[in-house]
Amino acid sequence: MLKDKVAVITGGAQGIGHAIATKFAEAGANIAIIDIKDSSKIVDKVKNYGVDVIAFNADVSDEDAMKSAFDKIIEKWDKIDILVNNAGIYPLERFTDIPIALVKKVFDTNVIGTYICSQIAANIFISNSIEGIILNMASAAGITPDKYHLHYAASKAAIISLTKGMAMELINDKIRVNAIAPGAVATEGARNPGLFEKSGKIPDKFMEMQMKKFSPLAKSGMGEPMDIANMALYLVSEQAKYITGTIISVDGGRLLL
Ligand SMILES: NC(=O)c1ccc[n+]([C@@H]2O[C@H](COP(=O)([O-])OP(=O)(O)OC[C@H]3O[C@@H](n4cnc5c(N)ncnc54)[C@H](O)[C@@H]3O)[C@@H](O)[C@H]2O)c1
Repeated sequence: MLKDKVAVITGGAQGIGHAIATKFAEAGANIAIIDIKDSSKIVDKVKNYGVDVIAFNADVSDEDAMKSAFDKIIEKWDKIDILVNNAGIYPLERFTDIPIALVKKVFDTNVIGTYICSQIAANIFISNSIEGIILNMASAAGITPDKYHLHYAASKAAIISLTKGMAMELINDKIRVNAIAPGAVATEGARNPGLFEKSGKIPDKFMEMQMKKFSPLAKSGMGEPMDIANMALYLVSEQAKYITGTIISVDGGRLLL
């Protein structure tokens, strides 16, 4: 389905990004991973599918580092076809307690990182007449905010707006831009999101509130990273050639519960 395509996946060292990299490699794409964590596990896994892979230990909010990474990807393959802006953080903290520095970090990673990588990729697509694809990772929280996650919800609402805006500006260049809005998904990040930095304790009723996000459609109540990767593969494939500017929920019905 993706034979000879080149896909750049941010935050691919673990979790949803790891599943997307695996799925795309299985479909025949060459893979570039950008992550602040060590990517050796996913690099080894991807190689098993007989595709080529490159990894960068870099922060998506660092514009110079991203320009340098994309330059190296172009040097290697002469093109990119797909960008998945998946890197994201979601620390929990009360609105009244969260240090502004942490709010800025959430926006830098989730929004500015997506902005930087998309701008670089879009310019590569346009100057090489590539009908490229950008896929962003939004969140159900970007549609309906969660308690203790206001900063995160606002950053993902920005991703939803950015997705529609980019789709609009880039449509004449035949670049498709979509987003997935996952609900609760069992990942390393979801198991350890960074808890209540200031107070150091989980507020009363927090677990009860978390349970409400769990879906009867999944055994554990949470989706699996592959549930998101399956939708990602569809959205970057030819089958989705008439889809742009759309936010697709993959959340086990979470917003209805
Ligand atoms: N897991 C969920 O329940 C859930 C729900 C909705 C949306 N999402 C979104 O899906 C995406 C992936 O989440 P996940 O659960 O797999 O998280 P995760 O923490 O398991 O994985 C995220 C990856 O991003 C990397 N990363 C973080 N900051 C980075 C930066 N500045 N530069 C480069 N890489 C960076 C991490 O090192 C990590 O490998 C995020 O955008 C998240 O907001 C997750």
